[in-house]
Amino acid sequence: MSTSSLPGRTGFTIFLTGLSGAGKSTIAAELVRQVEQLHGRPVTLLDGDIVREMLSSGLTFSRNDRELNIRRIGYVAAEVTRHGGICVCAAIAPYRSSRTEARDRISRYGRFYEIHVSTPLAVCEQRDTKGLYARARRGEIKSFTGIDDPFEPPQAPELAVDASRGNVADEVKRILALPIADGLL
Ligand code: ADX
Repeated sequence: MSTSSLPGRTGFTIFLTGLSGAGKSTIAAELVRQVEQLHGRPVTLLDGDIVREMLSSGLTFSRNDRELNIRRIGYVAAEVTRHGGICVCAAIAPYRSSRTEARDRISRYGRFYEIHVSTPLAVCEQRDTKGLYARARRGEIKSFTGIDDPFEPPQAPELAVDASRGNVADEVKRILALPIADGLL
């Protein structure tokens, strides 16, 4: 962390990465709920589906566009963190290099917690809440993460959570134990 963060409260970003349908948005929503209700702190939520509507509309799922999408998320999260705020990001973010770039940018100002939502592909595909895996298998969607596009799993995430096991509130408590242990919550 450099001296370029503002004096006062140290901000942090919790970055949830994992396959489509892994449970990132559900965990993110519960993170926001617990931080706001139990700790009385506001949270900026950058959820992939909303970011793709509000900040990244027009981007595709090519490697370049996914990298740009994650760069934008990392930039906004860094700004929130720089001002002592809390940011929760939930995006597939399939490429290690993009996540490293976000980590480096955000770590200049505060803490970065990379959380791998590691729900296995078979479970995500079986749930298929949006019906996208079935379409990808039929070849109607190209470059679908986990089917015909890679997901590079984090090698050293701060934590891995499997949303298909255990309950979401408990998994979120495990995540929040990290900033609590660092004295940031
Ligand atoms: S990322 O790769 O750029 O990080 P992001 O999290 O914004 O992805 O968006 C993922 C969501 O877009 C998925 O949950 C799914 O609903 C939808 N989607 C549409 N096309 C694809 C695709 N080819 N690969 C993955 N997700 C896709």
